[in-house]
Amino acid sequence: MSSSERLIIFDTTLRDGEQSPGASMTRDEKVRIAKALERMGVDVIEAGFPVASPGDFESVQAVAKAVKESTVCGLARALDRDIDRAGEALKGANSARIHTFIATSPIHMKAKLRMSPDEVLAQAVAAVKRARRYTDNVEFSPEDAGRSDFNFLCRILEAVIAAGAGTVNIPDTVGYNLPHQFGGLIGRLIEQVPNSDQTVFSVHCHNDLGLAVSNSLSAVLHGARQVECTVNGLGERAGNAALEEVVMAVRTRRDLFSCDVALDTTQIMPCSRLVSGITGFAVQPNKAIVGANAFAHESGIHQDGVLKSRETYEIMRAEDVGWSANRMVLGKHSGRNAFRTRLQELGVEFSSDTEFQSAFDEFKKLADKKHEIYDEDLQALVNDTTLAVDNEHVKLLSLRVCSETGKVPCAEITLEVDGKAQAGSACGSGPVDATYKAIEAIIDSGVTLQLYSVNNITSGTDSQGEVAVRISCDDRTVNGQGADTDIVIASAKAYVNAINKLYTLVERTHPQV
Ligand code: KIV
Ligand code: ZN
Repeated sequence: MSSSERLIIFDTTLRDGEQSPGASMTRDEKVRIAKALERMGVDVIEAGFPVASPGDFESVQAVAKAVKESTVCGLARALDRDIDRAGEALKGANSARIHTFIATSPIHMKAKLRMSPDEVLAQAVAAVKRARRYTDNVEFSPEDAGRSDFNFLCRILEAVIAAGAGTVNIPDTVGYNLPHQFGGLIGRLIEQVPNSDQTVFSVHCHNDLGLAVSNSLSAVLHGARQVECTVNGLGERAGNAALEEVVMAVRTRRDLFSCDVALDTTQIMPCSRLVSGITGFAVQPNKAIVGANAFAHESGIHQDGVLKSRETYEIMRAEDVGWSANRMVLGKHSGRNAFRTRLQELGVEFSSDTEFQSAFDEFKKLADKKHEIYDEDLQALVNDTTLAVDNEHVKLLSLRVCSETGKVPCAEITLEVDGKAQAGSACGSGPVDATYKAIEAIIDSGVTLQLYSVNNITSGTDSQGEVAVRISCDDRTVNGQGADTDIVIASAKAYVNAINKLYTLVERTHPQV
């Protein structure tokens, strides 16, 4: 594929995705996701906003060191300090990009920046020039371009391209545009910006009206050659364009697009599961490509058609996006090698022998309870064992729950809190309620439970239950998750996981506020 035909996939799960309330990720989690994206063949990984906090800086640094094949990008406002921090964080990268931005819409310039258009233009040019001191791969975004004045956009883009921006990204920051309008905007910019041939046009669409993917695709049809997107469509408010939808639309409708992606699409499902496991953002069953029902045929007519000839109702093959549902992969007698190999195929790598051993021990325990272990089980299991928060304050040691007809359910729990075992008990309206009250009897965290959900990972009553919780305290929100064949234990794990994340949360600057 020549580079002019290549559609560059720029993933911003680790940056814009993390701006979803409660989706914060630790450094190690970000490295795991970045490695999964690299394995999938994503061209550019936006690893974070280094100036936001020392933790964000370290995360970008760690991703820059870990990733070899993809370009690693750091976000920076059009400010010297931001650009210098991004440049420093990316020092160890094989291939580094700095993405700098400033708002260009009348409302943002007036109400947020309190700057005139000429001042904004001058700052944008200065930012691109400063970023070029660190790398010759610089991207510029006029934030809220979707509501900016067209002539001003042309002016600022011409100036930043002349200053050395090899990519100009047009964001529909508030998800306001309609597909024909947004595609038209990209086409007109490419036509009217005099030096547009010296840059790659990119788009970054938000999903407030549910149009992020449509707008991105319309832009590609009008000449955009980079799409910014996130796994599962994670992102600020209603999210960003979903990577899997953009990629599969371009792949499936090659007849209409004059470009193609260079991704290994079979890594889509493992990556989707990893991101939802880490962030606790469950994927809705009817979500395109990665939802549990995306390839399920319920009605008799459809099933009959699919059995006779798959193409009657299927436009893509489930295997091509990495679905291997209901395929028994491992069992009680599987050894370490089989376990390691299957996980490698799923794109899971262990950072140490200890991490591998603890995952293998958990696998053996699970295999004792459940005969057939599916890919989904393996992925939940490694999420549980390897995604434990660094410096866990609270650990679940044991849980005993009594649930009986006509009696009030009671729970007795032992937790290790900062290295010391502590026991607590409580009764509740159900076993989960009793368990959460027993945990609170020990830690008295003062958090509010905002969301509790349980899903079975595979089918059958011996399936593992995957529990996601969201808790908040003051203005901080985190998600936690846990999996077990016993859903009460899974619930306790999820709550403890969220509590640990809340303890590790640090103050950070939001790039767009
Ligand atoms: O939505 C947006 O405008 C952004 C920019 C920082 C590119 O995320
Ligand atoms: Zn955004």
